[in-house]
Amino acid sequence: MLVTHTIAELRAHLRGVTGIAFVPTMGNLHQGHLDLVQIARQHGQFVVVSIFVNPLQFGVNEDYSKYPRTLEQDCKMLEQCGVDMVFAPSERDLYPQPQRVTVELPPVANELCGAFRPGHFRGAATVVLKLFNIVQPRIAVFGKKDYQQLYLMRQMAAQLNLPVEIIGGETVRASDGLALSSRNQYLNLAERAEAVFLYQNLVGIRLAIMDGATNFFKLERQAMEVLSARGWQVDYVTIRSQANLAEPTAYECNLVILAAAWLGKTRLIDNLEVLRDG
Ligand code: PAJ
Repeated sequence: MLVTHTIAELRAHLRGVTGIAFVPTMGNLHQGHLDLVQIARQHGQFVVVSIFVNPLQFGVNEDYSKYPRTLEQDCKMLEQCGVDMVFAPSERDLYPQPQRVTVELPPVANELCGAFRPGHFRGAATVVLKLFNIVQPRIAVFGKKDYQQLYLMRQMAAQLNLPVEIIGGETVRASDGLALSSRNQYLNLAERAEAVFLYQNLVGIRLAIMDGATNFFKLERQAMEVLSARGWQVDYVTIRSQANLAEPTAYECNLVILAAAWLGKTRLIDNLEVLRDG
């Protein structure tokens, strides 16, 4: 496995390589990331994983400086997974000058997580577009864990005619159901025990919808109240259409429940797809 640190080095090695499958990450890898790597291996001939904590997608008071950086351990895991190349650029290489050209996304980028993290998706989409232009993959894999991000990457690829196919990977969970995330390690023991309740809430909403509940507003409000009563600070719990992340029509069958909430100083997100009978 090759580990490259500069754009020039990566380009030199990738000259003539075709069928590249790409997994962009911020490192501190866990099984969720590694599942995406397996998907990449199934779809491409040459797997590239990038590791870059992207300052452009963090807000001023967010966890950019304390985000865990574990490059050596990440590389060991990726080597065992059969990855062909790791790209771990420096901030200076990716942003030699302040990034003034950015990707403008559709309005839904300012809803859900975008409403609470202004500019986050612009920053994520901009770095992903730069990485696509550097790596030039044929396919790229993103996790459903970040459902809104996956949706926006698909929109960017489709509407900007990028020659890359976007593939979504299922959310990998701990045995109790908590979605794996690099941010889970910020949780203390009591918070970790409580954290699964976010997922359990989504499961409860899914059951209610499958049992025929149609008052989505009520389901959302109840879930937020229950979480708040347990000490969470809730950003949102909302039921949306899978197709466009808009509020669903009465007849929409393909739904997704999305939630974001704080446990102490840690912000957790999760989501669950629901197929209801038409
Ligand atoms: P990061 O949080 O490192 O996630 C990298 C990829 O792993 C994303 O596509 C994310 O959805 C996926 N992922 C994370 N946890 C997962 C889980 N439990 N199950 C399945 N997939 C999971 O997302 C980013 O980095 C950045 O925004 C990035 C796209 C790299 C741009 O900077």
